[in-house]
Amino acid sequence: MKMNPVYEREIVSIILYTSIFFIILAVVLIMFFYYSRKKIIQKEFEKKDLEILHQKEQLRAVIITQEEERKRIAQDLHDDISSKLNIVSLNSHLLKTPNLTDKETLEITGNIIELTAKALENTRRIAHDLLPPVLDKFGLHAGVEELCSEFNSSQAVEVNYQNNLVFDEVDKERHLHVFRILQELMNNSLRHGKASKISISFEENEKGQCCRYTDNGVGFDLSDKKNQNGLGMKNIESRVDFLNATLMVDSSIGKGFTALLNF
Ligand SMILES: Nc1ncnc2c1ncn2[C@@H]1O[C@H](COP(=O)(O)OP(=O)(O)OP(=O)(O)O)[C@@H](O)[C@H]1O
Ligand SMILES: [Mg+2]
Repeated sequence: MKMNPVYEREIVSIILYTSIFFIILAVVLIMFFYYSRKKIIQKEFEKKDLEILHQKEQLRAVIITQEEERKRIAQDLHDDISSKLNIVSLNSHLLKTPNLTDKETLEITGNIIELTAKALENTRRIAHDLLPPVLDKFGLHAGVEELCSEFNSSQAVEVNYQNNLVFDEVDKERHLHVFRILQELMNNSLRHGKASKISISFEENEKGQCCRYTDNGVGFDLSDKKNQNGLGMKNIESRVDFLNATLMVDSSIGKGFTALLNF
């Protein structure tokens, strides 16, 4: 049986158009997947770039703070210790001078005693600033207690501290970071917030051990770029990263400042 040629041509053209349609559809789909995948990869790269930038900024903050700290220690050593020891040394040499009267000897030894006592006191202060001995010997609770009483004794602020946790001696190094974070938060509350009340509490929550911190100061706008130029908060962030902890901070102008550290 022979097919009608018109009918045959129609079938061929239908097959042809359908094939062309499917080929075009396939090309469009392939292109769509290709470009959306490219976009996803591009977005991932951008995210990674941002993360690297953030880490670089944190590292920079750590290095700058470290250098500033070194500069401060060098200055303290130079001004408070070396200068005093220099005079002690001069006075000790003076003692060798022949035919000194009793009065002169007494005066020189008096100078030596006074200056060595001052140098000793300054050494203790510098060492204390570097690593509070109470924190080192008796742990985080005692360290924070001492920090609070130091702030309380300034009369500028009233610090309320409560602790419901027992700190394990094994985590001493981690506790030093928590201590430094609190130290920075308290300094900020006093310096920028002009707070008259600070409250700190260690407690257990669903995520584990946490520290709640609040001040009743002037507060600030967290999203404002001008509040992101300091090193203190960046340092806190890198300590939080190091601890594998999380920190949530909240503040707005006139509403004080709060922070929750899960560590
Ligand atoms: N408790 C607070 N109350 C009010 N403002 C605050 C408080 N904490 C931080 N800020 C604001 O956030 C900014 C950033 O704080 P951050 O500690 O990073 O830097 P800094 O204290 O200015 O300088 P640094 O800590 O490097 O000496 C501060 O300059 C201040 O404006
Ligand atoms: Mg600060």
